[in-house]
Amino acid sequence: MKLTLKIWRQENAKAKGKMVSYPIDGIEGDMSFLEMLDVLNESLVAKGEDPVEFDHDCREGICGTCSLQINGEPHGPDRLITTCQLHMRKFNDGDTIVIEPFRANAFPVVKDLIVDRGAFDRIQQAGGYVSVNTSGNTIDANSIPVNKHDADDSFNAATCIGCGACVAACKNASAMLFTSAKVSQYALLPQGKVEATDRVLNMVRQMDLEGFGNCTNTGACEIECPKGISLENIARMNREYLSASTKG
Ligand code: SF4
Ligand code: FES
Repeated sequence: MKLTLKIWRQENAKAKGKMVSYPIDGIEGDMSFLEMLDVLNESLVAKGEDPVEFDHDCREGICGTCSLQINGEPHGPDRLITTCQLHMRKFNDGDTIVIEPFRANAFPVVKDLIVDRGAFDRIQQAGGYVSVNTSGNTIDANSIPVNKHDADDSFNAATCIGCGACVAACKNASAMLFTSAKVSQYALLPQGKVEATDRVLNMVRQMDLEGFGNCTNTGACEIECPKGISLENIARMNREYLSASTKG
C-alpha cells in the first residue's frame, strides 16, 4: 500500500504544533498501525530527520499507552481495540491517514503524538486503592463471599487500561468514564466499601482539579473505549457521590 500520513508534529508543550505530510510506501495489510509508524521512523532516521515520537509499551492492548487519534477517532476506525491492535488492512491503498495526539487541556502534549496523562495517575492516587492492614491479622480476601454479578461487574470495570480514549472522544474532555471505572471496581466489592465515601469524594475532586469537563451523557466515550467500559459505571459513580456527599 501507498499512503499519505498527515502527522501532528510539536516540539514540546509550549511550542506551536503543525500537521506535516509524509508519503509512505510498501505497507502490508498485516502490519500493525505502530509497525507502520516504525517503518516511517526508520526512513526518517535514515534521512537524518527527527523521528515521530509516539507512546507504546506492551503492543498487545494491555498498557494503554499507545493513544493516537486516527482520522478523528481515538484508537482509529476499529472497535474494542487499542491503536497497537489496529491493523493496516483496515485502510486502503492511496488513503490519507490523519494522526494526532489525544486532545484535552488536561493532557498536555509532551512531543508530537505523546501526551502527559499524569492527571489520570493523580486521580488514581486520590483514592483508587484499598488500604490493607498487613499486621498479620489480615483476613484472606478469598474468604469474603462476593456476589457473582457484582464480581463480574467489578472485574469488567477493572479492565480499564487508563488509555484516555474516553477523554479524547468527549466533546467536554470529560474523564467520567475512566474515574467511574476506577470507583466502581472497588464500590462493588465488600473490600472496597470501607473507604468508599472518601474514595469517591477525593477522586471526583481530583478529576475536577485536573481540568476535565463534565459528562453530558453523549456516550462517545463508551463507543470509543477499547475495553467496552459501560456508561453504567458513570451512573454508579454519581450514586456513590450523592450518597457520600449527604453523609457530610
Ligand atoms: S474507560 Fe476505556 S477509554 Fe477510558 S481510560 Fe479506561 S479503557 Fe481507556
Ligand atoms: S502499546 Fe500497550 S496497549 Fe497499545
